[in-house]
Amino acid sequence: MVQFTTHRLAPDADGLDRAATLLKEGALVAFPTETVYGLGGDARDGTAVAGIYAAKGRPSFNPLIVHVPDLETAQRYGRFDAAMLALAQAFWPGPLTLVVPLSDAHGLSSLVTAGLDTVALRVPAQPIVRALLQQFGGPIAAPSANPSGRISPTTADHVMAGLDGRIAAVLDGGPCPVGLESTIVGGAPLALLRPGGLAVEEIEAVAGPLATAKGGITAPGQLVSHYAPRAALRLNANHAHPGEQLLGFGPMQSDLNLSISGDLVEAAAHLFDHLHRLDASGRPIAVAPVPEIGLGRAINDRLRRAAAPRD
Ligand code: TXA
Ligand code: MG
Repeated sequence: MVQFTTHRLAPDADGLDRAATLLKEGALVAFPTETVYGLGGDARDGTAVAGIYAAKGRPSFNPLIVHVPDLETAQRYGRFDAAMLALAQAFWPGPLTLVVPLSDAHGLSSLVTAGLDTVALRVPAQPIVRALLQQFGGPIAAPSANPSGRISPTTADHVMAGLDGRIAAVLDGGPCPVGLESTIVGGAPLALLRPGGLAVEEIEAVAGPLATAKGGITAPGQLVSHYAPRAALRLNANHAHPGEQLLGFGPMQSDLNLSISGDLVEAAAHLFDHLHRLDASGRPIAVAPVPEIGLGRAINDRLRRAAAPRD
């Protein structure tokens, strides 16, 4: 693996200029989005995309999300039917990824789609990544900026802890406000491929009931042990056993609390940061129950995967 000095760039005109130039040179740059930090490369450049897989240590059958500035640009790469157009118009820019059939002259590296005939497209809302997309002027392939299978990053420090020396730079835009990866919808009939930062209830209010994805599509978020801390995790705990640390939700005694007031939006924003912090001590982690509604569905999805047995 090539070793880099990973530069931490300020999100000002100079930093954005450096980041866009690095992307044009085929280098990898991590950047903030409203959901989590992404590890970006030029989606048309096979070498850059291969570098993303290598830096993350990601199994190469997992396709990447392509980030674009707006729906019009997205339509260069993917074909949108009426249902997908309605979702894009309702929720872009924002924490929603749409999986649509590839357009004919898309020009994307086949590594981005891992050889599938569909592509995952997302128009992020966060101002720094929007400025980067403008300045770079092309599609940016970006998975979450963490080594494969580890906790997703919501700060530049998290990115550095996992990828320092493996990428050219990270744009430091502070903590990500949503804190959970985007919700992914695809297929006909429309199916939920991954719960995430946009509540399913909001999507269903526009699109009607979503099917549940089964088989066929492999999302790494769907590998059972994903988002894993090094320490063991025990779910639905009302108190800590001796030696455990308690990650609380709602008013309770705990080492760290996702949201004392029981607010699921706040809990989502804290989830990965609190897991990173508790994991640093190496002690097992007990997690209080989180209700299975709104963003709680995505929070519980990530917690179940983090708690799954692994080798
Ligand atoms: O919020 C997010 O979505 C973040 C930020 C950086 O945008 N990105 C992210 O990427 O979470 P990643 O690579 O960690 O997850 C992308 C997901 C994977 O589960 C992948 O399998 C799925 O998108 N995916 C990508 N292309 C697909 C396709 N053509 N069909 C089905 N799933 C696809
Ligand atoms: Mg990820």
